[in-house]
Amino acid sequence: MKGYAVATALTLSASSVFAAPSTLKARDDVQAVTVKGNAFFQGNDRFYMRGVDYQPGGSSNLADPIADSDGCKRDIKNFKELGLNTIRVYSVDNSKNHDECMNALADAGIYLVLDVNTPKYSLNRKDPKASYNDVYLQYIFSTIDAFAKYKNTLAFFSGNEVINDGPSSSAAPYVKAVTRDMRQYIRSQNYREIPVGYSAADIDTNRLQMAQYMNCGTDDERSDFFAFNDYSWCDPSSFTTSGWDQKVKNFTGYGLPLFLSEYGCNTNKRQFQEVGSLYSDKMTGVYSGGLVYEYSQESSDYGLVKVSGDKVSTLPDYDALKQAFDKTENPSGDGGYNKTGGANPCPAKDSPNWDVSNDDLPAIPKPAEKYMKDGAGKAVGFSGDGSQNAGTSSTSTAEPGSGSTTSGSGSAATSSGLAAGLKVPSLTLAPVVVGALTLVSTMFGAGMVLV
Ligand SMILES: *[C@@H]1O[C@H](CO)[C@@H](O)[C@H](O)[C@H]1NC(C)=O
Ligand SMILES: *[C@@H]1O[C@H](CO)[C@@H](O)[C@H](O)[C@H]1NC(C)=O
Repeated sequence: MKGYAVATALTLSASSVFAAPSTLKARDDVQAVTVKGNAFFQGNDRFYMRGVDYQPGGSSNLADPIADSDGCKRDIKNFKELGLNTIRVYSVDNSKNHDECMNALADAGIYLVLDVNTPKYSLNRKDPKASYNDVYLQYIFSTIDAFAKYKNTLAFFSGNEVINDGPSSSAAPYVKAVTRDMRQYIRSQNYREIPVGYSAADIDTNRLQMAQYMNCGTDDERSDFFAFNDYSWCDPSSFTTSGWDQKVKNFTGYGLPLFLSEYGCNTNKRQFQEVGSLYSDKMTGVYSGGLVYEYSQESSDYGLVKVSGDKVSTLPDYDALKQAFDKTENPSGDGGYNKTGGANPCPAKDSPNWDVSNDDLPAIPKPAEKYMKDGAGKAVGFSGDGSQNAGTSSTSTAEPGSGSTTSGSGSAATSSGLAAGLKVPSLTLAPVVVGALTLVSTMFGAGMVLV
């Protein structure tokens, strides 16, 4: 319990009523990461993500690694040895307590980038309209409630690989609406301004359009950052052979922080040569580092370690990555970031690669509007019934600016932590019957998406 503030009985009773997390246990002595221009900062210092993707068990054996404090502490030893400052987790059970692991990560100087979705609570690219509903938003807002109090929550992913080819780009307005709603929720709850953005699949044909799309329109509709998965550097390779030089060129002038949400091609023996480029000033004017796929060995064969039971043993890729990180310093100074940042125009329709015909977004589903004011209420966790065919969908088009908020200042100083924890949820979720779970490959995409 090192570093914890003492929880009061008042808070405990509040949280036992509806599992709203108390805000009194999270450590306060952590410096939150913020966005300036097209970069992340820790105070006045540029922050480059040195991270791994972390979900032992993958999507087939889904477990919340942040709720598993023993496993988390076991793995933090390796995170520290690798020199990491960030991990990405794809799914958490928002009804569980995460204090112990989050504080242990904070002790180790490690931040969390968290996907708010789970296989049962996510957008379905085949049916984005139905799956963008109030039951879904209630789940992901509850996940925000569970993690907003940790200052080492670096960012939230609103979606992962929802779009995985040209035709599925027609789901992009829903991805953008979810991002807008999450940002509005964070501000209207007076949480710290935790960055929200999307993690795109490794698709050359619409990567740039998706990035531009997530950064066009009114401020409430734009993201705080953009990330994509990239498996194009396969050792032995180089900055030019891999084409990463072109990706720097193509994203030069992009107004949001950009990072690789998954990387580490495993076609050949991995040497992680790309690390040397990623943290050099050839790239840091445009990129803020990235996350290696992935910590644990799963069936896709990208593991750095093998987890068996409560034991963990390192694999050859672990040593290769450690060597690459050890010999790679960050650039000095600010790495040549763009201080201005800002919006860009929306991309034009270009089907079949980019199938979005206008810039309108769906309005938030009516029954979800109240969460902005009242909070999301009870977190249902992994055992919830799922959302893809539940609840009420959006029935109208949003006015630009609809996602802005006047109530919240967004400043951490005015955080309404305790008050939020005491809010009585104003709605009882109707029991939801979900038929056969639609298979969504938006989870744990990895190099399994081959284009
Ligand atoms: C860079 O942009 C051009 C023009 O949009 C595109 O043809 C090319 O595929 C892009 N290159 C990379 C590596 O993304
Ligand atoms: C910096 O970002 C702004 C806004 O996106 C852009 O107009 C400008 O060209 C960028 N500058 C550089 C040097 O990339």
